[in-house]
Amino acid sequence: MDINIVKQKDEKDPLSKFRAHFHHPKNELYFDGNSLGKLPLKAQQTLHEIIQNQWGEGLIRSWNTHWLDIPKKIAAKYAQLLGAEKEEICIGESTSVRLYQILHALMSSGLFPKQLTTDILNFPTDLYVMEGLVKVFKISPISLISYSNEVEADIKKLKKFIANHSGIICLSLVSYKSAFLYPMQLLNRWAAKHSSIIVWDLSHAVGAVAVDLKETETKIALGCTYKYMNGGPGSPAFLYVNKGVQSKLFNPIQGWFGHQLPFDFEREYTPAQGIDRFASGTPSILSMAAMEAGVDLVLEAGIESLRHKSILQSELLLKMVQAELIPLGFLIESPIESEYRGSHVSLSHPASWQICQALLAGSKLQPKIIPDFRPPNFIRFGITPLYTQYKDLLVLVNTLKTIMNTERYLNFSTEKTTVT
Ligand SMILES: Cc1ncc(COP(=O)(O)O)c(C=O)c1O
Repeated sequence: MDINIVKQKDEKDPLSKFRAHFHHPKNELYFDGNSLGKLPLKAQQTLHEIIQNQWGEGLIRSWNTHWLDIPKKIAAKYAQLLGAEKEEICIGESTSVRLYQILHALMSSGLFPKQLTTDILNFPTDLYVMEGLVKVFKISPISLISYSNEVEADIKKLKKFIANHSGIICLSLVSYKSAFLYPMQLLNRWAAKHSSIIVWDLSHAVGAVAVDLKETETKIALGCTYKYMNGGPGSPAFLYVNKGVQSKLFNPIQGWFGHQLPFDFEREYTPAQGIDRFASGTPSILSMAAMEAGVDLVLEAGIESLRHKSILQSELLLKMVQAELIPLGFLIESPIESEYRGSHVSLSHPASWQICQALLAGSKLQPKIIPDFRPPNFIRFGITPLYTQYKDLLVLVNTLKTIMNTERYLNFSTEKTTVT
């Protein structure tokens, strides 16, 4: 591919202006926005202001003047993005904790059989949380559906299982390894028809694909905000609970912030009405405040435009991979059809770990390139349309070609470190 072609694409890109809203470390290309999004410049200013003025000067008074409203303000923005009502989203805790809370609430509600199902494409924490609940409720083990590969779910198999085993199903809308994108509405309807409910983990979907929770008839969803939403390391998760089921579900962590009157310090716990009952303890104000710049940028760019650019960029990358990298021993581990793919592209190679290390190290002639590695041998390249440029994709493919042709990857150890 000619560099001028990709440069032209960047020049014509209507979203190119959003790059300037982020901090970019020098001489490196970032393809890990699907793990941790970049720092929005505005988040830096916001945190500085809060730390200096609101915490430093205002101290306890800042709860009334600024802080108590922050969770709801952010929730309303996530609601706008996800096609929900603002009274259906709450912000706080991690995705793992939220999943525990909501699955516990569903299992205690009596609305569905206490049968937990997931599939092999789901993220490990979701499986661990479910297995923990199996112990708490003393029920039979989770049903873990597997498929013929780790790339795509066999929707027919999944539907057949649901039809025969009613209960509570947890799926990741976009799979963390392959980016497989599930047909959300079809599965929600199928589950409802078979007295079941799907809890959707949107961690790899929010900010990457257009999700309309109402249109897809979703009842429960949750997810991380530190990936495509650029909320910052460990930024609080979001939880969506459809209005129709809120009053039937109770938070197993009965903390004062989920009380109807938290500041009356009553002796008895009375759950708040609506979504507020899913709060537990004091919100993490600094992390929540840092999240706002990220969601604002996604809303300003528009999720449809972001998705459009993500598809164009992923298709270009896949085309170059097919032409240049398949002959060098790489395999594509993401669905080829964009309709079934989120916003990252996964490749595999028997020497994936070493290839990742060679990318991360850079060289005299090439920038450092940051992807990530997932066992057994997947390399994921996150496309983040708010800041990924077309020319980055060409540099990536050319660098991989050089690393393979010069066998530079063989200089790197096969020993794995903790975070990649
Ligand atoms: C699909 C999915 N769910 C959950 C998590 C973990 O979320 P948390 O660390 O907020 O519990 C991740 C983290 O990458 C993820 O990819």
